Amino acid sequence: MLLLLGHALAVTLWARHSAARHIAHQYNATICGLGSYTSPSNNLTFNSNAWNPDSPGFQCLSVQDSPPKFDATWAWADDPGSVHSYPHVKLTSPAMPVTLSNISALLLSVKWSMGPGSTPRPALNVDSTGLADRETVANVAFDIFADRNTANAQNETTAETEIMIWLGKFGSAKPLGFALERTCFNQTVSDVELQLTCLSVLYQGHNARGTNVFTWMAMANRTSFAAEISPLLQYLWRNGLVSAGSNIGLVSFGSEAYHSEGNVTFSASDFAMSVITGPAPNLAVGGLPTTCAQPEAPPDESGAVSLYARGSWPSRVAITTLVGVVVYFLC
Ligand SMILES: *[C@@H]1O[C@H](CO)[C@@H](O)[C@H](O)[C@H]1NC(C)=O
Ligand SMILES: *[C@@H]1O[C@H](CO)[C@@H](O)[C@H](O)[C@H]1NC(C)=O
Ligand SMILES: *[C@@H]1O[C@H](CO)[C@@H](O)[C@H](O)[C@H]1NC(C)=O
Ligand SMILES: *[C@@H]1O[C@H](CO)[C@@H](O)[C@H](O)[C@H]1NC(C)=O
Ligand SMILES: *[C@@H]1O[C@H](CO)[C@@H](O)[C@H](O)[C@H]1NC(C)=O
Ligand SMILES: *[C@@H]1O[C@H](CO)[C@@H](O)[C@H](O)[C@H]1NC(C)=O
Ligand SMILES: *[C@@H]1O[C@H](CO)[C@@H](O)[C@H](O)[C@H]1NC(C)=O
Repeated sequence: MLLLLGHALAVTLWARHSAARHIAHQYNATICGLGSYTSPSNNLTFNSNAWNPDSPGFQCLSVQDSPPKFDATWAWADDPGSVHSYPHVKLTSPAMPVTLSNISALLLSVKWSMGPGSTPRPALNVDSTGLADRETVANVAFDIFADRNTANAQNETTAETEIMIWLGKFGSAKPLGFALERTCFNQTVSDVELQLTCLSVLYQGHNARGTNVFTWMAMANRTSFAAEISPLLQYLWRNGLVSAGSNIGLVSFGSEAYHSEGNVTFSASDFAMSVITGPAPNLAVGGLPTTCAQPEAPPDESGAVSLYARGSWPSRVAITTLVGVVVYFLC
């Protein structure tokens, strides 16, 4: 029942977000390098965040206030194994910082596009061939920071825990811990827009600062996403991987840019977050696996094949809820 109520709640929230439709405007700001811009109309902060530039490369981000949207163009030719920039928007909620055990629901939604060149594409459009031709390496991800201390939770450099949700993966981009400190946990979330239950695979590793980084990876590129993601958080704290007393202080959405031979443009729109506070419902999250025999690679590599080969596809189960039919299926 909690699952059904959670789903109905998420659908209601999604409908509320989708209701706001406006006519497109000119850009209100363009920022490059380490620049940022806070939109006066909604207090969203947009950040170009070229924190590890290479000399011929660049990162610029053009922002539209209303409806909020950004287009990020970049090119990084050197050092394909490293992230050079993370053009992103910080999502806001009056409930943050919020303790993990005080999150009743957390809805995240977004639409995005990516392709070669400097011209933004319409939402949902990905030119995979063009990106492959440019040897593009990038991800598309929500980035959540948490810490037991509320001040530290609101600062990327001091937060002890980072929780990423990858919706896209191009080239050899890999989550931290994909091979070394790997884990082989997984958890599903309900996508309220697609009416699908999507499997995410969890990886765990540490970055150079020692931040404990958990990455949930979608099993396919998700250019449209609207999901109640608290199961992914509950998996972490109910299994003791993250303290239940940790506070979420920052949530952003963007693309980590590693490499491209020439310009790439990433666009994001329809991004929204809703945090519903209250005692966390006791969701049916999985337990920790007792063994993790083989290293797991990101989904498009050998790990996914072996995941499927182990017969882990859930059977399709259709259940009727207050809002219709939900088909359980990997996506
Ligand atoms: C943003 O740009 C639009 C269109 O150019 C303009 O109407 C609006 O006033 C601008 N908003 C702000 C806050 O500058
Ligand atoms: C933006 O934040 C300021 C300071 O907290 C607040 O006064 C203002 O009402 C906010 N504006 C919007 C549109 O939320
Ligand atoms: C949960 O969050 C609400 C809203 O921020 C707050 O009023 C309440 O005190 C919190 N409860 C706990 C147990 O932290
Ligand atoms: C985040 O923490 C670092 C390290 O303590 C500090 O240098 C930086 O100013 C902080 N950033 C903000 C926005 O408070
Ligand atoms: C996302 O799309 C890229 C380009 O087509 C592809 O290489 C990658 O495998 C896809 N990622 C997933 C998780 O399916
Ligand atoms: C790459 O993008 C920059 C910034 O938009 C632009 O000035 C430059 O002409 C573009 N390069 C090519 C080869 O299109
Ligand atoms: C991952 O999910 C699949 C499908 O639900 C399940 O069969 C498998 O046991 C899960 N693996 C782990 C390690 O939890």
